[in-house]
Amino acid sequence: MDTTTLQVKSMYEQYPYPSKAAGIPRLAELYNLLQLFSRESGFDFKGKRVLDAGTGTGHRLVEAARSMPETEFVAIDMTEASLETARSLASTHGLTNVTFRRINILEDLSSLETFDVVMCMGVLHHLSNPKSGLQNLVRRLNPDGLLFLYLYGELGGRERMRRKTIVSLLNGGDSFERGLQLIKDLQFDTFEYGWNLPIEDHQLRDGLLVDAYLHVNEKLYTSESITELMNGSGLQQSALYGITTGKCGYLYDTAVNGPCSLKIPKTDPSPWLNTALVKESYERLPLAAKMQLVDLWFEPNGYTVVSWKNNLVDSLPGAQRLMRNAVQLSE
Ligand SMILES: C[S@@+](CC[C@H](N)C(=O)[O-])C[C@H]1O[C@@H](n2cnc3c(N)ncnc32)[C@H](O)[C@@H]1O
Repeated sequence: MDTTTLQVKSMYEQYPYPSKAAGIPRLAELYNLLQLFSRESGFDFKGKRVLDAGTGTGHRLVEAARSMPETEFVAIDMTEASLETARSLASTHGLTNVTFRRINILEDLSSLETFDVVMCMGVLHHLSNPKSGLQNLVRRLNPDGLLFLYLYGELGGRERMRRKTIVSLLNGGDSFERGLQLIKDLQFDTFEYGWNLPIEDHQLRDGLLVDAYLHVNEKLYTSESITELMNGSGLQQSALYGITTGKCGYLYDTAVNGPCSLKIPKTDPSPWLNTALVKESYERLPLAAKMQLVDLWFEPNGYTVVSWKNNLVDSLPGAQRLMRNAVQLSE
């Protein structure tokens, strides 16, 4: 294990994410994402095998597994402390459709079978080598499978990075405990949308604060660097599914007034296209440039990405939004 991975592991052994406490309120974000995806695209998770890579304490995964009894989940993580909580949560709920294994994503994953869906939410950006981790995961994906990622956004991450640097300078590499006290003294213990959890639980709150302000390794992305990450991974196409900003979440779309069956706010660029010249200039741009503009207008602090190897998404009845925002990846 390389030094960075050892540091990340040690951090999560001390502060498992999102919380060592099993009894926190239900965290439904992952289940909601899978349901929205299914409702819009027509993809059916029933009977599918799903890998959750970097499941943490499993709060989000267990909520999904509880609500999707006909889907089989395998969850991996490299930290035993996280898996301990995840296993106890799953057994409290009597789940029989989820199994947990301790595995490092950066190592050989061939002991795992292949999956219809691979999810890696909030994990790749903490790896010492995200590209290599992604390639390992793509090898576990069936040819007509789907991959979901959640990655930090650079443009919306500036304030958190500013605060993180202040804490780091004042803490001078001292303990997480001291860092946590500094965060609280500096009144940085407020959370943006996307980190917005029931934080009255002190273990959950400390876990989130360590993740937000004391993390030992993280990389932040833009739409451009996400494409660079995905190129050469073995995936054929990739689309941004949604973004989070400081205040709320959006479904992703570069299209002006693009149709969508879900009644949820989208990253429609219309408000910025205030004259015929601006609108025409936008409309004639290639997709990558439109994506850069959406980045600059919305400043995401996080991206949900959907990606696939073959033409699966072409065959989904409700995949128009994904198709019009799909980037062709290089080999
Ligand atoms: C921020 S947590 C995300 C947890 C969960 N996916 C969620 O969204 O709630 C990141 C998790 O990734 C795990 N992780 C980091 N690097 C890993 C690696 N190389 N192999 C396996 N798990 C890793 C950590 O142990 C931690 O539990």
